[in-house]
Amino acid sequence: MVVSDDEVTLKVENLRAFYTSKKGLVRAVNNISFEIRKGESIGLFGESGAGKTSVALAIIGMFEQISRHFASTASNEESRKLWALKDDARKKGLAFNEMKEELPGVSGHIWFKGRDLATLDEKEYRKIRGNEITYVPQGTTKSLNPYSDIEEQSSEVLWAHDEDNELKEWQVMKRVLQTLDLVELGDVDIRKEMKPSQFSVGEDQRVLIAMALVSLPDLMIADEPTTAVDIGLQNRILDAIQIVRDELELSMLLISNNQGTMAKTCDRIGVMTAGHIVEFGDTQRVLNSPGHPFTRAFIMSNPSMEQIRKIREKGLRIRGIPGMPPDLSEAISGCPFSERCEYAQDICRERIPEYREVDEGYWILCHRYEELPAW
Ligand SMILES: Nc1ncnc2c1ncn2[C@@H]1O[C@H](COP(=O)(O)OP(=O)(O)OP(=O)(O)O)[C@@H](O)[C@H]1O
Ligand code: SF4
Ligand SMILES: [Mg+2]
Repeated sequence: MVVSDDEVTLKVENLRAFYTSKKGLVRAVNNISFEIRKGESIGLFGESGAGKTSVALAIIGMFEQISRHFASTASNEESRKLWALKDDARKKGLAFNEMKEELPGVSGHIWFKGRDLATLDEKEYRKIRGNEITYVPQGTTKSLNPYSDIEEQSSEVLWAHDEDNELKEWQVMKRVLQTLDLVELGDVDIRKEMKPSQFSVGEDQRVLIAMALVSLPDLMIADEPTTAVDIGLQNRILDAIQIVRDELELSMLLISNNQGTMAKTCDRIGVMTAGHIVEFGDTQRVLNSPGHPFTRAFIMSNPSMEQIRKIREKGLRIRGIPGMPPDLSEAISGCPFSERCEYAQDICRERIPEYREVDEGYWILCHRYEELPAW
């Protein structure tokens, strides 16, 4: 299917994002490409440490800031050296592809409404972040201010971006009430005056989603929106996300290691391990007939009831992924899953596979995809 540029909200091309550590570069995001169409919901699904949050931080222009901050508090010489080299290259005006060695930070392209965000400076980014692109971070509720009511906190988001003083008080209030209403918090006239401590964890999460919507963004990114809540609350949060999707027709990037969350909220998903997207396609296809050995192993390690039935029918066992994910501070020469893959052959350890579109709209990163047994 050919999609024209004006139907695409965000296009990420060959995105890399490298942290530093005392062992050198930490290659958290490696050559990732995907796009989010208008009104579409894309998921990043994968194991812990795969690089999902790092992709989100790169998109909202916070990756380098956070990475430098951690490097400075850890005070290790190697990190300092790498960031100094990066500063030096930047002073010389070198583009990433002109640098002689791999350096920390973000490279690649992040196209958003015709502009490449990867080239913006912090001042330009601030106009977009929290306004046209909003982010509900992982570990959520700590980002709410416990001392101010939610109406005040939500309005601040709008006032902060009203540089030309165009907004009227009644417009702000109306927008705040509309978005709080959308995430179904009960009687918003009463609840808007409450402070975060007066809400449950699941409600706090929905308040954060409402706050991320109040500016009517083009793209909302929600990072693990349902962790640390019980199944009932999970469903209410996911319902709120679905309502928002249908009502506002905004584009979304949802991050989770929970396949139920992906299945319920996403049109298409990318499966991540070791800084790579290894499989990308229609959510139902990827979850019901995964083609990549990592996706299969990841689903087998935590299957849904329906999948448990299928696994038993085939006489297989539910089991975790053997071994440990690769250390991202060591350069990987072959397939990022080769150390743990039951189908690995020499070629897998020697060469990184190409990211191939093996069916329309269905992408895979595996040398041996065509030879694997059917799922
Ligand atoms: N500030 C940092 N400095 C160095 N390495 C980091 C930093 N933050 C994350 N990493 C490393 O980068 C890799 C990707 O981390 P990231 O948080 O993006 O994974 P994730 O997929 O979001 O995991 P989770 O599901 O646990 O949230 C991990 O190996 C992690 O240890
Ligand atoms: S490329 Fe090889 S090691 Fe990697 S997933 Fe495919 S079969 Fe497994
Ligand atoms: Mg994360």
